[in-house]
Amino acid sequence: MRIVAAAVLSAFLSLSGAGIPMTGTGFVTFAVAAQTASTAKAKTASSASARVMDHALVVSFVHRDNIGSTSKMDVDALSTATVYSGPTGEKKSTIEVIRDTLKKETKAKTFAIRVKKSYSKNYSKTVDRADREIDRDTKLALKKKKVAKWKTYKTIFLCTPVWHGTLPQPVKMFLKANDFSGKTIYLFGAHLGSGFGDQLAQIRALCPGAKVRKGKTYLGDATNKSVSKSVKKWVRARR
Ligand SMILES: Cc1cc2nc3c(=O)[nH]c(=O)nc-3n(C[C@H](O)[C@H](O)[C@H](O)COP(=O)(O)O)c2cc1C
Repeated sequence: MRIVAAAVLSAFLSLSGAGIPMTGTGFVTFAVAAQTASTAKAKTASSASARVMDHALVVSFVHRDNIGSTSKMDVDALSTATVYSGPTGEKKSTIEVIRDTLKKETKAKTFAIRVKKSYSKNYSKTVDRADREIDRDTKLALKKKKVAKWKTYKTIFLCTPVWHGTLPQPVKMFLKANDFSGKTIYLFGAHLGSGFGDQLAQIRALCPGAKVRKGKTYLGDATNKSVSKSVKKWVRARR
């Protein structure tokens, strides 16, 4: 798994290193009381699923939330920046769009995973640090690892990019710190070729007793509009 991830990663790194922006088409590779029995039944079914959505929490790990201010970003980091504000005028990263659309469509509360020690604004340094952390299973401190009223949530929408073919270490720390038994986790992701990588297997291993389901994953350079439209469709199909 890591070999495939390494191949994907080295391809996108060499493109960004060559000054080729990872946006647009340049980087293709990679949801009155009932009056009759039938309306009563339909109403019960719809309110049952509405209740699931009412008990949902959107947990996200957003790269740029974890690198401090972007105002002093260096040249290397611009390849990441273009993903956010490239030629199509994108304002948000893919994970931010997924998070915001899920929040709006399900009226869920949100929780942001943030590391205490920010990642570098230098893209390559972040890639190196992330690789080391995943290899060594480093214990990372999070700004906050517990969620208020955790027991009240039944559905967790976990939104994270794929890093080195797997979960970013901060996401792993959050999963380790909380008891997900009895909850259903839907994974939503962003990638540049690896898809979910081994994230679903990782989450199953880290969250015993949870149901782990595939949500959707999108290319990091997909337009905000297309991602938002697709997430809306996914949620509405499950209402
Ligand atoms: C440290 C690091 C490692 C990454 N590893 C992979 C990878 O293995 N496979 C992949 O397809 N994309 C990889 N990416 C690209 C991210 O998935 C990409 O940043 C994301 O798709 C962009 O979405 P976002 O802007 O919402 O974070 C990596 C990015 C970073 C910063």
